[in-house]
Amino acid sequence: MITLKEIQKNESIQALVHAGNRYLEAMGYTDHGPRHAGYVSKTASTLLSRLGYSEHEIELAAIAGWVHDVGNSVNRHDHGPNGAVLLYPILREAGMHINDVVEIITAVGNHEEQSGFISSPVSAALAIADKSDAHKSRVRGGKPDPDDPHDRVNFAIQENRVIVEPERKVIRQEIKMDDTSSVLEFLSIYMARIIMCEQAAAFLGCHFELMINDRLVNKRA
Ligand SMILES: [Fe+2]
Ligand SMILES: [Fe+2]
Repeated sequence: MITLKEIQKNESIQALVHAGNRYLEAMGYTDHGPRHAGYVSKTASTLLSRLGYSEHEIELAAIAGWVHDVGNSVNRHDHGPNGAVLLYPILREAGMHINDVVEIITAVGNHEEQSGFISSPVSAALAIADKSDAHKSRVRGGKPDPDDPHDRVNFAIQENRVIVEPERKVIRQEIKMDDTSSVLEFLSIYMARIIMCEQAAAFLGCHFELMINDRLVNKRA
């Protein structure tokens, strides 16, 4: 099986990750480069590992996390489906089995909350990992634009982690944010993403809990 390490060394993937991040930097978006890809890869694979999925699916989730945003090199709009189409020949050429390629492109093509539909564990793990990435380290250069709500919210987040409790069937995101932004501002930006996390967790047979500053802000299981 092709591993995450091999995919990270693939020069086509490297060029696309870089191009997508550069494009979004020009648009004034938060980090979408190796930091974000690394977080999503690690979080998606850890989720499936904690829930007892196979090593094969765990590695596919790690790969999907690393490559999920390459479509931003084409355009922000429809970057999920565009990324999937870009990835197909690259992953095949890299020697990945067709069944694994299909797993990856379905997950990547459905990771955005605007049009994504969760149809596999890898897709569910990718969605939760991607939507949960909010942290001060995502603000480029450590300098938030005070007029940009995404910068304000991310910069206020001091801690962020995703915890899995397999016995309770709970996936919980725990955020600690300071008062340079607010819970309301966080929710105004992240609401659609939280709903996608709830849907993805349900696909995995779990409930999604969101805790901000030690308070549960969505429905308890
Ligand atoms: Fe994305
Ligand atoms: Fe992303």
